[in-house]
Amino acid sequence: MNNYRPVIHAVELTKSLPLGKTVVHALRGVNMDIFPGEMVGIVGPSGSGKSTLLGVIGGLDSPTSGRIEIDGIDITRMSEDRLTEIRNEKIGFVFQFFNLIPTLTALENVVLPIQFARKARVSPNRRAKELLTMLGLSDRMHHRPAELSGGQQQRVAIARALANNPPLLLADEPTGNLDSESGRLVFETLRQVRHEVGTTIVIVTHDPNLAAQTDRVLTLIDGRIVNGVLR
Ligand SMILES: Nc1ncnc2c1ncn2[C@@H]1O[C@H](COP(=O)(O)OP(=O)(O)O)[C@@H](O)[C@H]1O
Ligand SMILES: [Mg+2]
Repeated sequence: MNNYRPVIHAVELTKSLPLGKTVVHALRGVNMDIFPGEMVGIVGPSGSGKSTLLGVIGGLDSPTSGRIEIDGIDITRMSEDRLTEIRNEKIGFVFQFFNLIPTLTALENVVLPIQFARKARVSPNRRAKELLTMLGLSDRMHHRPAELSGGQQQRVAIARALANNPPLLLADEPTGNLDSESGRLVFETLRQVRHEVGTTIVIVTHDPNLAAQTDRVLTLIDGRIVNGVLR
């Protein structure tokens, strides 16, 4: 794996957040390299900095110090405009609460980011249908989120995250709001995506059984990675 340029290269990332009159040190020097095609699990107790880390990796939040490169591009001090471009091009996000637009159908939810990116020669409708079909939702395309189960909604959210074929998918507790069977299916879907599309996936999870099925588990405690064992 180490012959490749990492998709994520993080050096001594820190993030300090003001909390009333004090400061919370959410990240205290995180170093990580994640390589193309890897599926990496991030575990750790509540409050250990997992969401903060994903936000900094994904350019939703800037670090207090340290450096973060995505696909060879240093995004640490990037302007908000350029960062938006990088996010649209390189990063798909999946969250615990699916964040679909309730008034749009599954298909329309996936079409939206493709139309937004306006890449030449891609039919948004066709691309969205292909993705939903790949994720087993061909018979649910015209349903609105409220007409879908939690697991189905999360698979629509995964299709939306993959809409513009990003090299990197970041998932913050994507099964956290699902029963265990639906959660298992959503996790299977992510493994399928990694296998069929080759997307690099970083998944934060509370579920040790799911984490055990990734290539590598990073454990975060008090804002630091305390292991990084290759299995
Ligand atoms: N916007 C914020 N303002 C202040 N403190 C925050 C903020 N977001 C997170 N924190 C704190 O940073 C630490 C890490 O939080 P978080 O990254 O959400 O942890 P996790 O996702 O592992 O549960 C926690 O102590 C949390 O209370
Ligand atoms: Mg969190």
